[in-house]
Formats: sequence, structure tokens, C-alpha cells
Amino acid sequence: MKVNDIHYLTIRMEGSSVFMVEQNKLPFEFSIFEAKTYKDTCIAISTMITRGAGAIGAAGGFAMAQAFLENDPFGFAQGSHGVGEVPRAESGVPRAESRGSFLQQARDDIRSTRPTAQNLFYAIDRVYEAGVKNGTNAAVEEAQKIAAENVEEGRTIGTYGRELIKDGMKVMTHCNAGWLGFVDYGTAVSVIHLAHEQGKKFFVWADETRPRSQGARLTAWELVNAGIDHAIVPDNAGAWLMEKGDVDMIIVGADRIAANGDTANKIGTFEKAIVAKRFNIPFYVAAPFSTFDMSIPDGSHIPIEQRSEDEVHYQTGPDSKGLMHTIRVSAPGSKAINPAFDVTPAELITGIITDKGIVKPETNAIAALFNRK
Ligand code: MRU
Repeated sequence: MKVNDIHYLTIRMEGSSVFMVEQNKLPFEFSIFEAKTYKDTCIAISTMITRGAGAIGAAGGFAMAQAFLENDPFGFAQGSHGVGEVPRAESGVPRAESRGSFLQQARDDIRSTRPTAQNLFYAIDRVYEAGVKNGTNAAVEEAQKIAAENVEEGRTIGTYGRELIKDGMKVMTHCNAGWLGFVDYGTAVSVIHLAHEQGKKFFVWADETRPRSQGARLTAWELVNAGIDHAIVPDNAGAWLMEKGDVDMIIVGADRIAANGDTANKIGTFEKAIVAKRFNIPFYVAAPFSTFDMSIPDGSHIPIEQRSEDEVHYQTGPDSKGLMHTIRVSAPGSKAINPAFDVTPAELITGIITDKGIVKPETNAIAALFNRK
């Protein structure tokens, strides 16, 4: 995506550092965060400096590659970075068994950053296996390959999905499944970006997505940046809009899709899908095959992240002079719950826009597409 005419990727690895768009500061400040070690990258994932299933996946792969670099028996990986940048064991060359346990610990640390997005586990496993088999350079190459695939997946999903958008439509999306949630393009919002690039005239409803407001802060920022006509919708106004006939289609992303098509996505997605069914509004999920977890038969097996109640109690933003403040927006003394995702049953989903085409959310159809080369 271009910001002020410069093309940025949401996340990239250069040398032994991972660079990512600092999403906690958007939409008020556009800046890049540098994670120098795998532990820095873990913190960036869990504090949501980088977020969204695809970006989390790329970050997890890069973090695993950083761990290989940080404990390389030769002190460096060819062409990746200089010797001086690599933290070494006291002896200078780590023993094989300490390298093994370091890498396993790193893998566990990265896996424990966020529990729901399947892309995280997919990427960590690929990089870990490549590195264990073929060494540090192979781990770095695999992580870069996953990030490059992620760009291509987003572009392909957008190309399939944009055919669903017609002139004059009003399209609703929830959370941020855009460029910021991926390495580039996104999933649901890639469909919107690419339909806009075709010159189609349509309107986007961006759900606010409390408590972290990914829709109001991130999707809206992307749409402003791309010049796409839109408005932010309070989370509880969806049914009112749909009843009035003001929503023609809903497209959302996904964090994990079970073999039968049940889909975990940002909390509130399930509610939108129920209301869409009530008013016969097509409800699409957009996600690449790296988001599918074919090892689980249905959505009841998907772990749902519980985040801090402070995200419900407090909001951060600038005052009229641009100074940032965090203020309490709920009754002092009240408790809150903060489940980050919910699972939309396959029966409420019209179709899943994947990087291999649009598929019905049914076990056989998904398996057939999954196995297609
Ligand atoms: O908690 P987040 O912001 O990481 O959640 C993101 C979402 O739920 C997105 O809709 C989903 O990851 C799809 S983005 C590729």
C-alpha cells in the first residue's frame, strides 16, 4: 500500500531485524517499529503493534528466523547480517544441545504470543522445520517466502472477490482485514481495494469493532488513504442498517477456519452473520488456505483469546492539540470481559473467498479445493 506515495509493506525482515507498521499509533501517527530480536517481535505480536492473521503469521515466521540467527553455530548466516550483530553463547559457539533447547524455547515463546490466528502456527512450523533441516539461511529464506506468498494470496483473494462487488453496492466489513492485517493487500479489504481500482463505484460501511476499534481506526484509515467512500458504523447499528436495506453484502476476514468452514474472526462477526441471515444479505469470509486448520473438524476446537479488561475500560487518542491521552470510558470499579474472537458457524456463511477461488463452507468442498494444486 502507498502512504504519501511510498509503497510500504505492513511487515518485512531486513538483516536480523523485523520492521513493522506501528498499528497502535494509527491512525494518528504513521511510524515503523523495529524488532531487533525474536523476543522483541514476540512483544510486538502480543501488544498488537502488528496484528491481523496474515501479519501475525509473517511476524511469527520472521521471529522464528530471528531465533535461528540469534543462536547460529557459525555466528552468522551468509548474506543475512554481520557477525557483530549476533548474540552468541559465552563460548562463542553454542553447543548443539543448547542450540536445540534455545530454538525450542523460542518456538514456544512465539507460539504463546496469540492463540487464535492459525497463520501464526502455520508460519512458525514451516520456518522451524526448514531451519532444523537445512540451517539458519534456510529458516530466513522460508520466512521471507511465507511473507511473499502472503502478498500474493492477498492479491489473488482480491481478484476473485472483486467480481462480487457491483456498482452502487453498500458493502459492510468488520475489524481490519486489510493491508494492515496482512503483508500487503489484505483479505476482505483487498476485495474492496481491488474493486475500487477497477473503477467501481460503491460504498463501504466500516464497523467500529470495539474494544480496540480496528474498524474505526485501521480500516477507516486505509479507506481514507485509498480514497474509498465510506462511513464508520457503531457496532450496535448493524441490524438497523441491514433492516433498512442499506447493506448489500458483508465481507470479513478470518483468523482460523475449521475443516467444515466454521470461522473464527474478530468478536462481533458472529452477531453480524446472524443479522445478515435474518435479512438475506450475502455474508462472505475472505482468507487464504494458510488460515484453514484442517486438523479440527469444526469451530468448537478453536481457542479464543481472552485479552485484558483494560482494553474495554480505556481508550487512547489525541486531544485537539494532538497530545495523546488514555482515558477511562467505563464505570470505575466495574469488571469487564474481553474475548477477542467469536466463531461464526458455516451455515451462516455464503462463501469463503480463498486464494484458490470461492468455496462453499462445507467439509467436502473445502477438502477438494484444499487438495487441489
Ligand atoms: O485482534 P486482531 O486485530 O489481530 O484481529 C484481526 C481480525 O480479526 C481480522 O479480521 C482477521 O485477522 C483477518 S485479517 C487478515
